[in-house]
Amino acid sequence: MLRKQFPAMLGMMLISNAPFANAGGDPVRGEALYESRCIACHSIDANRGGPAHKGVYGRKAGSVSDYSYSDALRMSKIVWDEQTLDRWLTNPEQSIPGQRMGYSVPEVADRADLIAYLRLRSGK
Ligand code: HEC
Repeated sequence: MLRKQFPAMLGMMLISNAPFANAGGDPVRGEALYESRCIACHSIDANRGGPAHKGVYGRKAGSVSDYSYSDALRMSKIVWDEQTLDRWLTNPEQSIPGQRMGYSVPEVADRADLIAYLRLRSGK
């Protein structure tokens, strides 16, 4: 019995490790949201009012060397992933008290799409 189940289990494991399989969000829609909601303060490649987002997914919070972060964000021990970005975008101040981003994304689906886009642009 085990021998019969094993290939199926292996197949499931491979599928669940495929890129974006468990991210859930749509990076194409995420890009459109990014362009309309984040671009006032951010871009992928350059610092603006907020830090550049190149490589943000998977890196330590507050670690763009030539951007002047709040102490709260710079000293936080957070690494940006699905969970931490979701919490941050839901309510930055609750996520890291003392931070300086005055913007949030209330809708769960919008956050998932934005995170999928940031992840894709980070090559993760
Ligand atoms: C009104 C300006 C503003 C808008 C709009 C804004 N941000 Fe920010 N964002 C900031 C600032 C300022 C910081 C740095 C905060 C600090 O240093 O405490 C920041 C930081 C971040 C960080 C942490 C980056 C790092 O290097 O650790 C992420 C992630 C982020 N923003 C995502 C977004 C996304 C996604 C959007 C669009 C939904 C968005 N922001 C919209 C101003 C903004």
